Amino acid sequence: MALRPYVVGNWKMNGTRAMLAEARAIDRSAQRLMKVEVALAPPFTLIHAVHKEVEEIGVGAQDCHAQGDGAFTGDISAAMAADAGATFTILGHSERRQGHGETDADVLAKAGAALDAGLQLIICCGETESVRDSGNAVQAVTDQLRASLPQTLESASEKLTVAYEPIWAIGTGRTPTVGDVESMHRAIRALLIDRYGETEGGAIRILYGGSVKPENARELLWAAEVGGALVGGASLTAESFMGIVMAAV
Ligand code: G3H
Repeated sequence: MALRPYVVGNWKMNGTRAMLAEARAIDRSAQRLMKVEVALAPPFTLIHAVHKEVEEIGVGAQDCHAQGDGAFTGDISAAMAADAGATFTILGHSERRQGHGETDADVLAKAGAALDAGLQLIICCGETESVRDSGNAVQAVTDQLRASLPQTLESASEKLTVAYEPIWAIGTGRTPTVGDVESMHRAIRALLIDRYGETEGGAIRILYGGSVKPENARELLWAAEVGGALVGGASLTAESFMGIVMAAV
């Protein structure tokens, strides 16, 4: 891991104010681990409260709307998330793509809105199990990413992080081999360099996500071109999340 590793906890649809104690504990431990950048993406309802509780770690959203404001019942704009304390947003998570029909074009539009609101991006990509079995995973993921990423982006390495999350590995306890993770991350790196140039494209962090646990974090985090992790289930307690963060040191 040449770049400062980035470990992000995605709480998904979990957490009430009782979870603030976990955020506080994560923040306290992270203050002693300056070599790793740590962040949490709680549900919208907790962004402001988590932001108020923590000093060291980043706080972000899990999604945002593609429009700045308007009659969109139940939606949250990037500016609203930023106003609540978010500095980044996850976009294009497979649970949004599959559960809410989000297309690559939607992700691209949301990325524009998030950048306009001053949020950094974590753009997700990943293949289904049948695509992996068919041998077309690299092609499918790079196609998805090519259509989801902004064409141009100034200071791309500061504004953009990519998260590779094989859909079949999310919440299942199954993970790809280190070799498969490395081939996918190398293909993503080539795409990023092609789009944003050697310097910026070479410095964008590419996270791995999908059943990362304290037990397997070291081998996944230290694989070639892996710049950190996007963690779901294991980010819900400070103990397991920090077990993963420590593996990045
Ligand atoms: O955003 C996080 C990923 O979907 C991974 O979730 O760690 O529960 O497999 P998981």
